[in-house]
Amino acid sequence: MAGGGAMVLVLVLVLVTAGGAWAAPEKQAKKKGGKGALDPASTHYVVLDPNEKTGQERFFCLARGKCRWDIIECPPECPQRKPKKARLNKGCFADCSSRCETTCKYRKPNCNGYGSVCYDPRFVGGDGVMFYFHGVKGADFALVSDERLQINAHLIGTRPEGRARDFTWVQALAIMFESHTLVIAAKRVAVWDDHVDALALRWDGREVLVPTDGDAEWRSVDEATAEDIISSNKEREVVVERTDDANAVRIMVSGLVEMDVKVTPIGDEENRSHGYRLPAGDAFAHLETQFRFTKLTEEVEGILGQTYRPDYVSPVKKGVAMPMMGGEDRFRLPSLLSTRCPACCFRYVGHRILDESATVDVAQY
Ligand SMILES: *[C@@H]1O[C@H](CO)[C@@H](O)[C@H](O)[C@H]1NC(C)=O
Repeated sequence: MAGGGAMVLVLVLVLVTAGGAWAAPEKQAKKKGGKGALDPASTHYVVLDPNEKTGQERFFCLARGKCRWDIIECPPECPQRKPKKARLNKGCFADCSSRCETTCKYRKPNCNGYGSVCYDPRFVGGDGVMFYFHGVKGADFALVSDERLQINAHLIGTRPEGRARDFTWVQALAIMFESHTLVIAAKRVAVWDDHVDALALRWDGREVLVPTDGDAEWRSVDEATAEDIISSNKEREVVVERTDDANAVRIMVSGLVEMDVKVTPIGDEENRSHGYRLPAGDAFAHLETQFRFTKLTEEVEGILGQTYRPDYVSPVKKGVAMPMMGGEDRFRLPSLLSTRCPACCFRYVGHRILDESATVDVAQY
């Protein structure tokens, strides 16, 4: 039954895509292929029934170019795209761009990897250089500001008596592109429980619930129109997929950014060893994130974004325990959903500024 369904889907998609095939010059398809795992083409496939003997999942590539109509299979080490116990098992990734291959990866942010923002916020830039950015508790800053993409962070924090500055963590992120806004936030919880979801999501101001069973994913567009989107490039698709039973997701905005996000508290040990002296009654749930960008321009701005410029020279001191990144004034925003900061360069005519009070409940301090 399931097999029949998959084959019908394949046939429908073949018919739909075949129409546009001749219109696309081969050269373009090749150029596109070079971008690797984040090229929208890389995930342009249909999932087939798994190999009956081994359970390895299989994909039928639809992307224009070298892999088109190829069937690729997950390696035996990671037979599934969405393994149970994602904490322990690597997931299988299909790349239908030009690589025509599947690889095994953990689906969690790597806080030491490029594009990561973790802890009190500690960054690893696109240039591989680690730095800290303190900001101010309760304030909002632009992590990335580019022509087509703006990513803001809301900071929560505390200032123990006698300290000159706040300790801060990223509590919410706002991802803005075209007319859309996706907000992902850690809910305020008094006592942390790994099994209770403290993740809140809003798409264009409306609350989004990511299912916990089945595909465990939410899509901004239903599957039927996904093909039109990829072929026309008119609108981007957003996919939010759980990578654990609670508190971990992967977010994909086709052709712009992919991010692994985890909600995590400040534990007793961390509180003690760093001397945070957190007030009781708040676990300071916050986000650990790793970003992977496609198509940033050479003028990209933002605390993290600037480190992806080809000519970027990091101003942070090397070899010190806590290299500091300045720029509080250049990247500070009036609110989480604003795109206005002195260095900001997001320009999209028609970006809807949402009612900013709509996010008050997810970014409440
Ligand atoms: C954090 O540690 C301080 C001691 O340094 C303690 O007084 C406080 O209650 C701790 N906070 C939490 C939330 O555990």
